Amino acid sequence: MNNNWKEGRKILLGVTGGIAAYKIPALVRLIKKAGCEVEIILTKSAENFVAPMTLETLSGKKIWNDKNFDSTIPHVKLAEWADVFLIAPCTANTIAKIAHGISDNLLTSAAVACDSEIMIFPAMNEKMFNAPVTQENLKILAGRNFKIISPAEGPLACGVNGKGRMPEPENILLEIFRSLCPVKDLAGKNVLVTAGPTHEYLDPVRFISNPSSGKMGAAMARAAWYRGADVKIISGPVEIESYGFEVIKIKSALEMLEAVKNNLEWADYIVKAAAVGDYRAKNFSAHKIKREGRENFSVELESNPDIAHEIGKIKGDKKILIGFAAETDNLSSNARGKLERKNLDYILANEISSSNAGFASDYNKLHLISREQNQSEKIFSGLKEDIAFDVWDFIK
Ligand SMILES: Cc1cc2nc3c(=O)[nH]c(=O)nc-3n(C[C@H](O)[C@H](O)[C@H](O)COP(=O)(O)O)c2cc1C
Repeated sequence: MNNNWKEGRKILLGVTGGIAAYKIPALVRLIKKAGCEVEIILTKSAENFVAPMTLETLSGKKIWNDKNFDSTIPHVKLAEWADVFLIAPCTANTIAKIAHGISDNLLTSAAVACDSEIMIFPAMNEKMFNAPVTQENLKILAGRNFKIISPAEGPLACGVNGKGRMPEPENILLEIFRSLCPVKDLAGKNVLVTAGPTHEYLDPVRFISNPSSGKMGAAMARAAWYRGADVKIISGPVEIESYGFEVIKIKSALEMLEAVKNNLEWADYIVKAAAVGDYRAKNFSAHKIKREGRENFSVELESNPDIAHEIGKIKGDKKILIGFAAETDNLSSNARGKLERKNLDYILANEISSSNAGFASDYNKLHLISREQNQSEKIFSGLKEDIAFDVWDFIK
């Protein structure tokens, strides 16, 4: 698939009178930075929370409101123009109106006139969100052409903690891209991804590890999420952009194996992108190992279980197991051997010896070898986030 699917897309953004409207200028900047076009409709009340001039400057366009429209019947035309229509933040008031067909302003008219999907980002005080009337109205919308993006829990503007926060602008952009993604071939599928390094502790303060950043695993996870999958990531100790995923944090290879086994039944696809330590200390020291009096120091290591191999033995025929192999030499033949030995369905061999690919880089060069297609080999190179899409294209 062409990886330019995010660029030049047309976004219709409705903004209502909630306090979370203060985040909208940042969202508009991100949308423009991503190379998309945006048209904005403000309710009268939204103008109390965000200045039209700010949004006009950032979007490069006049905003639409009940006073500012031309003879083009904008409430119909704007929704037809848009590739995606979202209302963020969406007040309890606007939710109630559109659930009941009340179209007394330009935004509610556009929402009622639109027959394609509209994303709703409710944002309000927790009591207002949990009120039976709001929940019933959301249920009505969810049963129609609306996709409700549940608010997050956290500190609310009214000074209490609760469920009602609008997602951060970066995460709203991810939801926009998920909606825009031209393929939804993983909808209804569960994808389990392992990512990052493991830390194999020698004592409470020292460990053996590797430079894996988790970026390739995160890219495979994000691409699967865009394509409609439910995604869980089992991640070693690295920061991973986790919006939309359940993230299970582990440290050691043994913890990773246990977490993979615990989630195996749930998974349709298992992507083993983590760089798992092959060895751990044979004798973990519960106390910090002292330096004094030691010129040399050796540690006896013992083998960690090979997680892909363990999963390959028990996964059955229905689950697809995708392994990664970091290789410096004889890449293809080593990878083919691993594909067979570990009962993988696909293996992606990394060329970690090349300078601008592999560990911690944003780029990668991968040789994909497939069991189904008689071990035929395909090479992908470029940005990890783009390669991840191409890999899913191939697998699907
Ligand atoms: C200071 C203040 C903050 C408000 N914050 C919210 C909010 O976060 N969410 C919400 O649903 N309503 C909130 N409201 C109420 C809405 O502004 C009010 O229902 C308004 O009529 C919404 O109009 P609209 O839906 O046409 O934008 C707030 C009101 C005030 C005065």
